[in-house]
Amino acid sequence: MANSDEISARFWNLPWKADEESERENTFIDDIIQKTHIERLITENLDGVETAFDGGAGYGRFSMLLAGRGIRVTHFDISQPMIDKARALAEERGVAGNMTFVLGSLEDLSAFHDAQFDLVMSFDAPISYTYPNQGDVVKNLARIAKKRLIISVYSRMAWPAHAFDPAQKVKYLLDESRDPWNSLGEVSKLAEYKPDMAAVREFFRTGLTEPAESTGAAFEAGGTPWPISYAFMPDELRGLLESCGGRNIRLSGPGALSRLIPGEVLRNIMRDAQLRGDFLDFCYEYDRNPSVAGLGKDNLVALAEIGE
Ligand SMILES: C[S@@+](CC[C@H](N)C(=O)[O-])C[C@H]1O[C@@H](n2cnc3c(N)ncnc32)[C@H](O)[C@@H]1O
Repeated sequence: MANSDEISARFWNLPWKADEESERENTFIDDIIQKTHIERLITENLDGVETAFDGGAGYGRFSMLLAGRGIRVTHFDISQPMIDKARALAEERGVAGNMTFVLGSLEDLSAFHDAQFDLVMSFDAPISYTYPNQGDVVKNLARIAKKRLIISVYSRMAWPAHAFDPAQKVKYLLDESRDPWNSLGEVSKLAEYKPDMAAVREFFRTGLTEPAESTGAAFEAGGTPWPISYAFMPDELRGLLESCGGRNIRLSGPGALSRLIPGEVLRNIMRDAQLRGDFLDFCYEYDRNPSVAGLGKDNLVALAEIGE
């Protein structure tokens, strides 16, 4: 079967992916919550950080944040279109001078030496796309980190929500007249919808969001399937980080609070600038409580101190 990085490269090289990714926070409330959470976690943990590595950095929402603060960032991604988009945005924002753009796969970090970067990060699941090599990828990310590792991967505790509610994105639409994923189209099907319990259990057992065989077959046939993705359990990720020398590990679940709130109320909150700010502050506090680690939108976030 094809290697995970070949499947990922073909998928993330799709010409519209970079634009679609860069529009997510203009479309979905859960993406706003997750981005705000990760931004705050990063900016609260920049003491002693002069250099950073962002693995699977996409269109650069987090790498540019650091570059704007004077940190020298290596923006690393498997997709040239993503890098091109990130470079153009970084130039527009005047932060490109602090950035080095590198095309490559997280599955081969041999170009980087031990403890090369003060902060190593990787957000919104690039690590999950490296199945079956995700454990080695985390080890190598820890290897090139000097002080701190902050990552987010797919969460096995959060993912079943997709299987039980195919219309779950509806409540997160910022504006119901802009529905690029046709989530509203799913609502009319809900009355008849029955989840496939065998598939849910198989996912929960294996952590694989896409069946490996069917993805491999679709790829071999010349298609562009979603990469086979591995979803972690919180304790599993904690154990892996500990085995790489990680200390003071903190896990969180951005989006956990929002799951409890109706879409109409979420939209009202987003339309009121003061309330929106207060709400995002409270989400950050709530979603970092260890009791909801991994129960957010779809990402399990982890921070670990590395080294002395
Ligand atoms: C969902 S996007 C997240 C981007 C960015 N981290 C963010 O949070 O905005 C996933 C990114 O990971 C990249 N990616 C996927 N597999 C990768 C791999 N094996 N090595 C490096 N980058 C990869 C994709 O090209 C894409 O830009």
